[in-house]
Amino acid sequence: MTASSSFSEISTKKIIQMNDVSTSYDSKNYALHGINLSIDKGTNYAIVGPSGSGKSTLLKLMNGMMTPSKGTIKIDYQTPNMNNKKFKIMMHKIGYIPQSLGLIKNISVLENTMIGALPRLGIIQSFLKNFPEEEINEAKRILKLVGLSGKEERKAYMLSGGEKRRVAIARALMQKPTILLADEIVSELDHVTAREIMNLIADAQKQMNLTAIMVHHDMQLALEYANRVAVVKEGQKVLEIGVEGDSIVDFQTGDLTTEEIMEMYSDESKK
Ligand SMILES: Nc1ncnc2c1ncn2[C@@H]1O[C@H](COP(=O)(O)OP(=O)(O)O)[C@@H](O)[C@H]1O
Ligand SMILES: [Mg+2]
Repeated sequence: MTASSSFSEISTKKIIQMNDVSTSYDSKNYALHGINLSIDKGTNYAIVGPSGSGKSTLLKLMNGMMTPSKGTIKIDYQTPNMNNKKFKIMMHKIGYIPQSLGLIKNISVLENTMIGALPRLGIIQSFLKNFPEEEINEAKRILKLVGLSGKEERKAYMLSGGEKRRVAIARALMQKPTILLADEIVSELDHVTAREIMNLIADAQKQMNLTAIMVHHDMQLALEYANRVAVVKEGQKVLEIGVEGDSIVDFQTGDLTTEEIMEMYSDESKK
């Protein structure tokens, strides 16, 4: 296989496809309505929108925690559903970092990271914390990658906000993921630390051909790192944009200019 054909294979493979997806938490209101989106393997996709617009719900649909009431979702051509055996196997390859991070406070950085390996270890092994040495070495390697060497034995509650995020990323990478879903992972961090974390994810992404789908608060940051940014408002995807050269391009309709997009977004963000 030539380099160019393998490139086109990767760049055209749709790892996530949503077709007219709606979902709700109760019978009255839609949390998401008529969502269409398509994400290429290996890319960095961002979701931005006001609080309550449906960003977290969108991630939950992608990892099978929620199911659509209407429309279809395919994750690597599988329907995310706990009854679908093929998806259950795939689910282990989806690293999900909730906004709360989901760390266990009173266990160590290394033990929190090992949680990412649990799906591939036997129940008995996991229960006895009788982890194979190569898995422990792998966790240590990943902790070095995320900049936490020397802090393996520290309890999670002792860490700074930036360090906690590094542990959550390490736990996700320990899954050997193909997809990383991160919900506002840098929202509460200062400008410098947020970029350190984003650079870390970008590096891991390149090394592992990972598809990252990240919910962001900050449009600037989303545009800086993502190939495409979906803007969600009141449960609907209102824009899909990205930076090409000096302009912001409208991928959804192809009709809007950079100025119109900026104007539209600033109007949205004031509401
Ligand atoms: N567990 C839940 N039960 C009922 N409604 C919910 C629940 N979680 C979210 N919602 C509602 O769904 C909508 C989208 O929420 P969410 O996806 O959390 O938005 P965002 O992440 O953009 O802030 C909101 O109206 C929210 O109130
Ligand atoms: Mg949310």
